[in-house]
Amino acid sequence: MSTVPSFWSPRIAALEPYVPGEQPRIANLVKLNTNENPYPPSPRVLDAIQEAAEKGLERYPDPESVALREAIAARCGLHGTQVFVGNGSDEVLAHAFFAFFQQAEPLLMPDVTYSFYRVYAQLYAIACELQPVDEGLRLDADALAARAAAGCGGIVIANPNAPTGIGMPLACIERLLQACPQRVVLVDEAYVDFGGESALPLIARYPNLLVVQTLSKSHSLAGLRVGFACGQAQLIDALQRVKNSFNSYPLDRLAAAGAIAALADEAWFSKTRDAVIDTRDGLTLQLEDLGFEILPSQANFVFVRHPSHDAVALAAALRARAVLVRHFNQPRIAEYLRISIGTREQCSALVDALAQILD
Ligand SMILES: Cc1ncc(COP(=O)(O)O)c(C=O)c1O
Repeated sequence: MSTVPSFWSPRIAALEPYVPGEQPRIANLVKLNTNENPYPPSPRVLDAIQEAAEKGLERYPDPESVALREAIAARCGLHGTQVFVGNGSDEVLAHAFFAFFQQAEPLLMPDVTYSFYRVYAQLYAIACELQPVDEGLRLDADALAARAAAGCGGIVIANPNAPTGIGMPLACIERLLQACPQRVVLVDEAYVDFGGESALPLIARYPNLLVVQTLSKSHSLAGLRVGFACGQAQLIDALQRVKNSFNSYPLDRLAAAGAIAALADEAWFSKTRDAVIDTRDGLTLQLEDLGFEILPSQANFVFVRHPSHDAVALAAALRARAVLVRHFNQPRIAEYLRISIGTREQCSALVDALAQILD
């Protein structure tokens, strides 16, 4: 009997990779499953990409992405040396885990949060300790700060949290920063523009703060893959070292040009962001009318459960009606559905489908 040899290294064999939300190949689905922005990016983005495509594609891009970093810095009130950019914030997060969290003590994170964090930790063999959220899926910042003060390898939190949408006040973030001044506190602000409180103003006072953001959500650029981290230059230098030991040109010319143009169109950003927030607030009321319990969201999605309907069955019934939402088959949140905020028309289609299903 022949056996097939495994060429995999043991750590890869033991990995449980992140499972991204479905990107269906079927047209005309109401796609509310991966927290994309339902609106297109600013028209200026397409012009900038067109222009960049017409010149210089035969040349490598700027490995340091100086122009984009300066554009982000200007928007965030920072210096270019305080900004790192990557191919989506997922890549930025991966580099940050590699750069800061390979420590003797465990990395702390909530037990309900963005599930990619645990994958990065596994990938880099970083021990994690999960801080339980309460019944309402809220994180107790004081308990986490007390645990951190006893010694840890760092803290990672999403604010607003994913997949709950619940935001944490800046005063709580500050307590975490003070609790472990020798370790990095990474605050993932992927959804902050939809109503959260950003920790960017704390960077000047806290050398251990790294804020990660993305253009995928509030700037409608999920397809372009641009994320960034902000922090004092010493942290950014570490990220540059990882990047330059991995892929020195993570952002291509088109992505950099498109991102700069998106950041420059503040009016488009505000208009689309406000539309998403407004639709979220309207959808919350409609879902409440249908009997759903909805966690207070500061993000571009809502996390909901129905007291008398199973989440898996609801997701399947919605899919049968061409509406995609996200279910996580994970402890503590298996009875919830995460619904991304679409256009007003898409959210009406969702509500109509739910009304039929619950009838
Ligand atoms: C909390 C959180 N962080 C980071 C990301 C990654 O975003 P991107 O890689 O598109 O920048 C996501 C994506 O859904 C997310 O939910």
